[in-house]
Formats: sequence, structure tokens, C-alpha cells
Amino acid sequence: MDLKEIKLEDLNPEEFIEQKVKDISSTVGGGLAINALSGGVDSSAVTMLGHKALGDRLKTYFIDNGLMREGEPQRIVSVFEKMGVRVEIVDAKEQFFSALKGLTDPEEKREAITQSFYKEVFGRLVKESGARHLMQGTNYTDVEETVAGIKRQHNILAQLGIDTEESFGYKVEEPIIQLRKTGIRKVAKALGLPEEIYNRPPFPGPALVTRILGEVTPEKVETVRKATKIVEEELCNSGAFQYLAILHDSKVTGMRDGKRDYGMQIEVRCWESKDAITGTPTRLPYETLEKLAERITTEVPGVVSVTYNITKKPPSTIEAV
Ligand code: XMP
Repeated sequence: MDLKEIKLEDLNPEEFIEQKVKDISSTVGGGLAINALSGGVDSSAVTMLGHKALGDRLKTYFIDNGLMREGEPQRIVSVFEKMGVRVEIVDAKEQFFSALKGLTDPEEKREAITQSFYKEVFGRLVKESGARHLMQGTNYTDVEETVAGIKRQHNILAQLGIDTEESFGYKVEEPIIQLRKTGIRKVAKALGLPEEIYNRPPFPGPALVTRILGEVTPEKVETVRKATKIVEEELCNSGAFQYLAILHDSKVTGMRDGKRDYGMQIEVRCWESKDAITGTPTRLPYETLEKLAERITTEVPGVVSVTYNITKKPPSTIEAV
């Protein structure tokens, strides 16, 4: 890999910011750039870097793909409003659900997200805005895992030989590509972002799609969204690196009110990790696990079974898809 990592011990966040602001200004020149903000620490850092460099010449969009966590679009827009950055919400739910229809293979689902995002939704936004540059928060780990063939991260293009100018009509700028998560958190903090953003647990670009086995439908997203909210509420003080709920494809026999209830299974995962490259399940107290099972089976309609993942990464991965 030609790309050189900036190691944590070599990172001076203030100098990094100054250098990137200069680079962005000179690459984009007097033109326009656009970017998509998901609210994760990566895209949030890129949004702030871009706005420092370009001001209003960076147009920031929140793409509502219908696959995000509950209340997410409004929450993120209001955080950035307070920072003086205007973010426009784009409703693209239908495009994403129709692209995912009928797909069950994990890589095909990821590919559908990539195509809908870059070609349809962004392609149109770029054309309408006249921007020639797309800024995005690809990081060093994303590149490493994609190049190693572990998982195709949704945002990796050039490293897979995709010429974005030729395929989509715009250039992609990736200011934080030499950093890993911990470095990005330091930069995000130095950019003045609030702690709820710079300390946010990672959340994948393809959103809840990575947590739904089998075909993705609006109903399944709703189920996993409700379970995710409970898992996040119960585990936000666990100190873990990341915690999530997965909806399984197969049903299991359960019982409710003395009757057979053939229902859905939710798997909870909670990870100890530094960089998401390897991970170990957190040794959660049994009472916490019991509370999760109790809440998920009573508050999420149709769920009759909750399990906890006890497998390390590798051979597991953090997400299920
Ligand atoms: P896996 O599941 O590969 O996840 O062990 C490693 C870390 O990356 C996140 N993840 C993604 N992030 N785009 C992203 O921006 C993606 O396509 C993607 N897939 C996984 C995952 O949440 C974990 O932190």
C-alpha cells in the first residue's frame, strides 16, 4: 500500500488541521465541494476541516437513507447548526430501499449502498450543485481492510481501481485517510466538535444494513432500530469500544402468553477494541445481559430470543454483514 499512516505519537492535531486546511483550499481552489455528513466522528471531522478551508463553498448534506438510528438526522443537524455549519437533509429512503430489494448476499448489499450513494444520490447532488469535488472521511483502517480483502468498506473507491472522475464525474478528497480512529478523535476535538461527537462509538457507513441478515426491508430496519436504541441506552456507560444489535434472518420457536410464538432473534455484540482490527467481547455483568434480554423481548415487537456474541474478531467481525 503506497499510503503512509500518521501514527498517533507523530500526530499534532493543530498542525494537522492547519496543513489539511491549506491542502483543501489549494485543491478546490475557487470552486465548490460537497460532502455527506453521517454524524460519525470521521465525516464530522471532515465537515469541520472543509468548512474551515472553504466556508460556504462546501455544501454539506445529511443523506437520510432510511437506515440510520432513531432521530439521527435531526440530532446531527442541530449539533452542526450550533457550530455555525448549515446541513441540508436529503430524503433518499426510497432509492436505498429499492436498491436493496431482493438482495441477501452481504457484499451485494454493500455494493447496492455504494452505487445508490455515489452514483444516484451524490451524482445528482453534484450535478445540481456544480461541484467538482466530493470530500469524505475514509480512514486508514477502511483502506487496510478493503485492500486485504476482509470487507469492502462502502467508501473505498480509488484503492479498488475505481476512477471516480470517470465513473461518477467528480474527484474524491480524503483528508483523514492517513489517520486511524484515535487520531481522528483527537483532530475532531481540536476542531472544536462537542464530546458527543468526538467520543462517539463507531457506526458503519452502510448503517443498520450491516446488522440485518438476509433481505433488508423497512420492517426489519424498524426492528433492529428499536433493539439498537435499547442496546445503546444500556451499554453507553460500559466503556466498551462499540456495541450493537443484529437481527437474524431465521426465526425460532418461542412462547408468549402460554402459546407458541415463532419469532425473531436479536444478537447483541459488545466489543473491546482499539482500532476495530481485532476485538474481544466485553465481559458484561450477567445482570446487564438479563436486562437487555428482558427489555428487547418486551419492547421490540416479534422478538422472542436474545443472544450475546462471545466470539473474538477474528474469526468474527464487528458487524454481521
Ligand atoms: P468489521 O465489521 O469489518 O468492522 O469488523 C470494523 C469497523 O468498521 C466499521 N464498519 C464500517 N465503517 N463503512 C464504515 O464507515 C463500512 O462499510 C463499514 N463496515 C464496518 C464497524 O462498525 C467497525 O467499527
